[in-house]
Amino acid sequence: MTPPLHFPQLMPAFILRIVVVSLALSFCLVPLVQAEKIIVTVQADALGKAISPDLVGIFFEDINYAADGGLYAELIQNRSFEYQATEQPSWNPLTSWELTTRGGGKGSLVVDAADPIHLNNPHYAVLHVSQLGDGVGLANSGFDGIPLHEGEHYDVSLFAKHLYSGERWNPAANRGEPTPLIVRFESKNGENIGEVSLQAPGREWTRRTATITAKRSEPAARFVVLATAPGGVAFDVISVFPQKTFHDRPNGLRTDLAQVVANLKPKFVRFPGGCLVHGNGLGNMYRWKDTVGPIEQRKEQSNIWRYHQTVGLGYFEYFQFCEDIGAKPLPVVPAAVCCQNSGYTNGIGQKGLPLDQMPDYIQEILDLIEYANGPVTSTWGSKRAAAGHPEPFALEYLGVGNEDHITPVFKERFKLIYDAIKAKHPEITVIGTVGPAPEGEDFEVGWKIADELRVPMVDEHYYMKPDWFLANLHRYDSYDRAKPKVYLGEYASHGNKLVNALAEAAYLTALERNADVVHMASYAPLLGKLGNTQWNPNLIYFSNTEVFPTVNYYVQQLFSINSGDTWLPFAIAESAQSAGLAFSAVRNARSDDLILKIVNPTQAPQTLHIELGGARRFADSGIKTLLTGDPQAGNDSKTPNAVMPVTTTIPISSVFDCESPAHSLTVIRISSRGKSAQR
Ligand code: AHR
Repeated sequence: MTPPLHFPQLMPAFILRIVVVSLALSFCLVPLVQAEKIIVTVQADALGKAISPDLVGIFFEDINYAADGGLYAELIQNRSFEYQATEQPSWNPLTSWELTTRGGGKGSLVVDAADPIHLNNPHYAVLHVSQLGDGVGLANSGFDGIPLHEGEHYDVSLFAKHLYSGERWNPAANRGEPTPLIVRFESKNGENIGEVSLQAPGREWTRRTATITAKRSEPAARFVVLATAPGGVAFDVISVFPQKTFHDRPNGLRTDLAQVVANLKPKFVRFPGGCLVHGNGLGNMYRWKDTVGPIEQRKEQSNIWRYHQTVGLGYFEYFQFCEDIGAKPLPVVPAAVCCQNSGYTNGIGQKGLPLDQMPDYIQEILDLIEYANGPVTSTWGSKRAAAGHPEPFALEYLGVGNEDHITPVFKERFKLIYDAIKAKHPEITVIGTVGPAPEGEDFEVGWKIADELRVPMVDEHYYMKPDWFLANLHRYDSYDRAKPKVYLGEYASHGNKLVNALAEAAYLTALERNADVVHMASYAPLLGKLGNTQWNPNLIYFSNTEVFPTVNYYVQQLFSINSGDTWLPFAIAESAQSAGLAFSAVRNARSDDLILKIVNPTQAPQTLHIELGGARRFADSGIKTLLTGDPQAGNDSKTPNAVMPVTTTIPISSVFDCESPAHSLTVIRISSRGKSAQR
């Protein structure tokens, strides 16, 4: 017996009629359908429903050492001597630095702040060498060691100032000439893995550069700066980058990690947070202007996740990364309030910027839009051009606020900001915030405010169990299409096992069906450094030398590279619902491909009998990608490839069967005759 049909909600009545007629016809033509197969009829040539082509993107936050020690390719930790005990009790400006003396050498390493390079960068180190011996200097241990690759070149730069020669407190010492420095990589036991001599520092702060070639590979080297004569030298912003960065950008990103992120082919990147944006107290909000310009002038600050931000990966670098990977930038600025959990206050720590500071703060946000999009003749557009990017960055979206407690203090400031952006930049889509959960007071009040103000889009967040996702596949079916659109800015099921990834995959089919209202979605968080995570699960784990995409990563990737801009109506046997299957059909206008996604999160394998209704002709074969395995398996550093997508070519006709194994996601991409392309 053919089971009764279940039609997804939102299917217009005229399409229903077409589906029923086409099904009746196809039953006549294909009488030998086995009862246990789940029949799906896709209206492959229907006009369908326009959906957002930007649905799948990423959310980058500097959490879990995602930026410093992670994506940002800087190899020196605490390069500007700005670490503080407020970040971690054991930290101070010399954290990860130490004095190194050899062969009778004597000296000391201290911190000073009397004459900094820039007021934004107050602390620096002073090396006093009283007796040279075989060498005295300062050594940095990097972020758990400095990884080196044999034959690769490393760009060293540092600011130094010659203070005195010879003996300290000896007036004659001030007349001595500065001497060159030696910079080198060493193994733990002191083996020299590459060194070069650096021009002598000047009497004022001067930047010196050199390139070292690694003699051999070493997973955890250290970097040493050695004096070549007794005396005193001040140092700041001691930096080492691999010469090879992603897209060869100076002050750039780690190639392997950036490439794995790029391989997601995200349609947008939300940055720089997260809680990082609204910050731990008003003084810790992420202010974009502090993060652009020469790195020695950027204002480093503590990271709400209890470590340090150099902001070397700042707004310019974020915009550039978005461009390099073909993703739209989606920056988030604070809504002029700090995190409600600021200062360990468990939800009552929100404070708002004083109202008399709001005009300047609003101008700062308007300046950001000018920095991204303004002509080179504008004040901030010219700064973008000076940084090396005269073309605009094509900013379309701007988030205001992150998971803020929706209070009158928040509302007053959000409205001021929103009204100002709307008045000056109606072309920008402002994204409001509705709290940290899929329901509750902040959610309700946040939505109410967004409705009242007619904010174009709001940012929903939720981290839930896999079952929650499976039970909520119809969440957005009933959302009022006349109200603000949704950006699902942060979501993840609690884990990195296949069972989690499949719950997310099923949810993504529901998001595709509702991508007329859910405009964008991003899994969170993106990156987690092994041994340094404040938050789990994450989409990609990494160490200094390796990158481990999770099984959740492959789900995101499969939905991203197989996205559509038209959702196609389909009829599916009711038994699919009891079988726990999720299904989606989209068309990608650019490639003209039809893309089917089948998620089977259960332990019972199924066979789908797929009928491609309508007159459209398709190629005789399609590309099938299957992600399946043990539901409790995941990809980690010990078993990095436990669950991997497998791609095969399958025969396609207007009626074909497709196995949906237990615990699987299947993506089938079918090109219209003669065409095939991804994305
Ligand atoms: O994604 C990690 C954190 O989760 C984000 O910083 C915050 O917005 C949410 O609470």
